[in-house]
Amino acid sequence: MKNIAVLTSGGDAPGMNAAIRAVTRSALAKRVSVHGVRQGYAGLIGGNLRPLGARDVGGIIQQGGTILGSARCPEFTTEEGRLRALRSLRQNDIDGLVVIGGNGSQTGAHALWEMGFPVVGVASTIDNDLYGSEITLGVDTALNIALEATDRLKVTAASHQRAFLIEVMGRDCGYLALNVGIAAGAEAIVIPEVETAPEEVAEEVRAAYERGKSHAMVVVAEGATYNASRLEQYFHENRKRLGFEIRTTILGHVQRGGVPSAFDRLLASRLGAAAAEQLIDSEPGVLMGILNGKVSATPLTDVVQSTKRTDPHLWQMARILAR
Ligand code: F6P
Repeated sequence: MKNIAVLTSGGDAPGMNAAIRAVTRSALAKRVSVHGVRQGYAGLIGGNLRPLGARDVGGIIQQGGTILGSARCPEFTTEEGRLRALRSLRQNDIDGLVVIGGNGSQTGAHALWEMGFPVVGVASTIDNDLYGSEITLGVDTALNIALEATDRLKVTAASHQRAFLIEVMGRDCGYLALNVGIAAGAEAIVIPEVETAPEEVAEEVRAAYERGKSHAMVVVAEGATYNASRLEQYFHENRKRLGFEIRTTILGHVQRGGVPSAFDRLLASRLGAAAAEQLIDSEPGVLMGILNGKVSATPLTDVVQSTKRTDPHLWQMARILAR
């Protein structure tokens, strides 16, 4: 292999820059040149590539976001789009590609691999819903941002004896909400994996006040059937009967914008370096992630066919610890 490319795709995740840096410098150390693709698969289709040298990836390890840009690219889900991307790779003499991204991005990587192009993925999404890695890039930073916000909200909640709904991201996965909830000592946690009716949440809040608490924090996953907006509506409609006031904060994209934590920079460095090595010296068609604490390669075919589950055990534990 003489020339590889690297792209970031889907929702940006803190640590993507550290991964771009690790891929680039590891490849250069093997005398393989590197191109960066702008705006994910959209840039690949449009032939938007530029060479990356060691200095081009200097001073970025501490930056959130991605210097290459990212995109969600519906065109790449079509065969025509994928063929155009493949053509562009060939035209730029690219022999292999590293895809840094989550589920949608690795589905794209798998498609290119099935078309005969050497690809290696790096597990990157704040949602932590990607099969093949116990923890993905950006999760630790996003978790800490959401936790800090929740801690702050708890202070004002306690001053006013209020209840708060805090909605965190995660798409259909409750990992972020569950872990923020446990770490913040939330009185209730609502996640897609455990169907929870609004009256049950109200009951948890009421019980918290009855136990003498001065506040009640409810951490809600955006993908739950009753997300923060629906719960808020229910609480407002039943305010008199329930007897407490509720405020809502939807954290949204704030969670994606942080300076990457030490954990995410280290994870990105390890996975990025391993991805370059795997692509150049070993077997492509895999996702680089962490399994049993070690950098591991999982076939992209398994990654796209499997679902990672959040441990419902932890939800039960959180309920007990909130007493
Ligand atoms: O997959 C990462 C994520 O931040 C999800 O948690 C969220 O549902 C989604 O992306 C938001 O996507 P967008 O940035 O396209 O609005």
